[in-house]
Amino acid sequence: MSGMRPTGRLHLGHLLGTLRTWQRLQQEAECFFFVADWHALTTDYDRTSGVSTNVLEMVTDWLASGIDPERATIFLQSGVAEHAELHLLLSMVTPIGWLERVPTYKEMQQQLSERDLSTYGFLGYPVLQAADILMYRATAVPVGADQVPHVELTRDIARRFNHLFGETFPEPEAVLADAARVPGLDGRKMSKSLNNAVFLADDAEEVKARLSRMMTDPRRARRRDPGDPADCPAYTLHRVYCTPEELTWAAEGCRTAGIGCLECKHVMIARAEEELAPIRERRAALAARPDDVRDALVTGTRRARELARATMEVVREKVGVGGGI
Ligand code: TRP
Ligand code: SF4
Repeated sequence: MSGMRPTGRLHLGHLLGTLRTWQRLQQEAECFFFVADWHALTTDYDRTSGVSTNVLEMVTDWLASGIDPERATIFLQSGVAEHAELHLLLSMVTPIGWLERVPTYKEMQQQLSERDLSTYGFLGYPVLQAADILMYRATAVPVGADQVPHVELTRDIARRFNHLFGETFPEPEAVLADAARVPGLDGRKMSKSLNNAVFLADDAEEVKARLSRMMTDPRRARRRDPGDPADCPAYTLHRVYCTPEELTWAAEGCRTAGIGCLECKHVMIARAEEELAPIRERRAALAARPDDVRDALVTGTRRARELARATMEVVREKVGVGGGI
């Protein structure tokens, strides 16, 4: 089980950090992937107008990247109101101190200091996340490193609930994504807001132009200056995409100044294109049929709702409140 906030179009960081892991897991296990649109409200409660467009853009990218609604249940959080009910019940047993100690709480408040995040909903962000996870009795939660404390808190909440009301929820484990940190064009973490991303919807020319400009080892300011691949953000993508032979060629050429950076990057760009071109094609086909994307989400949401209803029947009975009438 995993979710993403609806940020709109996805980039290479999402593909390498998350979607590849989802793709793999959907072959091996029963999976639930959902759009955390209520979570978007915890920070953007005063600008909700873009959310539904972002939902469809994002799900289009999921499907284009090979997330398969026949294998995995994809759904919209706000379409399963049971998440809100479970969130409420979990909030009753969650000490405020646990929430104040979650690292993302203070970090995000500082990062987004222009917003007023002293809200009840923002503090409760991880409780809502715990409800998402526990609703499907998930055992594995693929997430980036920043989300691991949320999964740990989910375990604590599950344990507390089980202790109070009897064994109900398994304790989930975080599954770390393969390439959790993908550098953007400027070497910082790839992110839409830093304007350093390569989007899955970008055309081939754009991808080529952007990756050609990607930051390299600053020691290679001139063609004749040798560099070190370990200090080159672009080489992180070489590691993802290139064959062992290509990697050796690039690393040696870099250290001896035998090749230029552009020449070096072109090999990586060509490999990246092998993954991106089919995604882009599927994306264009899906974008022409937005109703199909919506239908996939509606069907998955219906299925998730059935399971959530079953869980809530058990939960109400365990708690002893809410099942009576
Ligand atoms: N908090 C996650 C993020 O920002 C999104 C999320 C919400 C999530 N609920 C979840 C992830 C449940 C995994 C499981 O990326
Ligand atoms: Fe990076 Fe390649 Fe340039 Fe070395 S030669 S700095 S590895 S792009």
